Amino acid sequence: MAQANAVSNLIVPPEWESLAAQDMRGAVLLIGGTDSGKTSLASYLVQQWSGRLRTIALMDCDVGQGVLGLPATMTLRVFTGSTYTDYCFFVGAISPRGHMLRILVGVHTLYKKALSLGAETVIVDSTGLVDPGQGGLALKSAKIDLLMPCHVITLARGAELNPILTSWRNHPLVRITTLRASPHARMRSRAERVAWRRERWEAYFRQAVPLTFPLQSIAAINWLLPTAQRICAFVDAEGLCRGIGRITYVARGSSTITAETPLRSLEGVVAIRFGAPRLEERILGNVEPK
Ligand SMILES: Nc1ncnc2c1ncn2[C@@H]1O[C@H](COP(=O)(O)OP(=O)(O)O)[C@@H](O)[C@H]1O
Ligand SMILES: [Mg+2]
Repeated sequence: MAQANAVSNLIVPPEWESLAAQDMRGAVLLIGGTDSGKTSLASYLVQQWSGRLRTIALMDCDVGQGVLGLPATMTLRVFTGSTYTDYCFFVGAISPRGHMLRILVGVHTLYKKALSLGAETVIVDSTGLVDPGQGGLALKSAKIDLLMPCHVITLARGAELNPILTSWRNHPLVRITTLRASPHARMRSRAERVAWRRERWEAYFRQAVPLTFPLQSIAAINWLLPTAQRICAFVDAEGLCRGIGRITYVARGSSTITAETPLRSLEGVVAIRFGAPRLEERILGNVEPK
């Protein structure tokens, strides 16, 4: 699959070059509207800083257009030398709207994991939801409260980030660097966004095989309607997602469930968490986004 935001294709403005690794201990939160260049800047910073820091991590919180993991998930990538390891958190929706608590639990879970693995700097990329009327201010402010990032980098297009900047400007612990949204950032159409999700989703399920398990012996979170087609995540004791499945069969009385999944066993899995209704249709673009 083509690597989105390949650093070699980026046009790097001088203001990006002056962001120095040594000032960045803890979380570095990137905030900007849709297609403002957040993910491109995140890839650039990882490349620039990884030589100077022992362990650097990237947290991709974009549940709709994430580049590290699957739609409806968030991914932590921890780099050590020339290798990396990914950790997945299942949100179960492709937009933060209506799912903000779950996003915050994910930020907490993945950040804790990054720190436990010795990450010195965790770059946090996210969705472009910044409109206060849509909950953008509440979500970004809650992320700042939770992470207490050493640095917030904003990529502004016009005045859209002013509510966030006004709120946090004078906080003594949070340094804010305001950059312009990348003039080279390209707006992506809905069709391109759908194609991106669909390609990643279908590639993941190409390796899937049926897995049957008893519902009685496992926590089933959000198990509202025992329907086929529901998307579920197999979650371990750390709250991390070991794999994703789609339900293909529910036995009478819901005693057992069969899901298609690339996961070959439920070893280490303590809970199954179901995604929002019609999640797969939303991922594949078969219903309008909320
Ligand atoms: N500095 C840049 N140079 C070249 N292309 C860029 C640059 N910044 C963004 N783009 C392109 O614009 C599009 C949107 O950028 P992206 O970083 O994915 O935005 P966001 O993460 O804020 O939605 C992508 O196709 C990306 O490759
Ligand atoms: Mg992005």
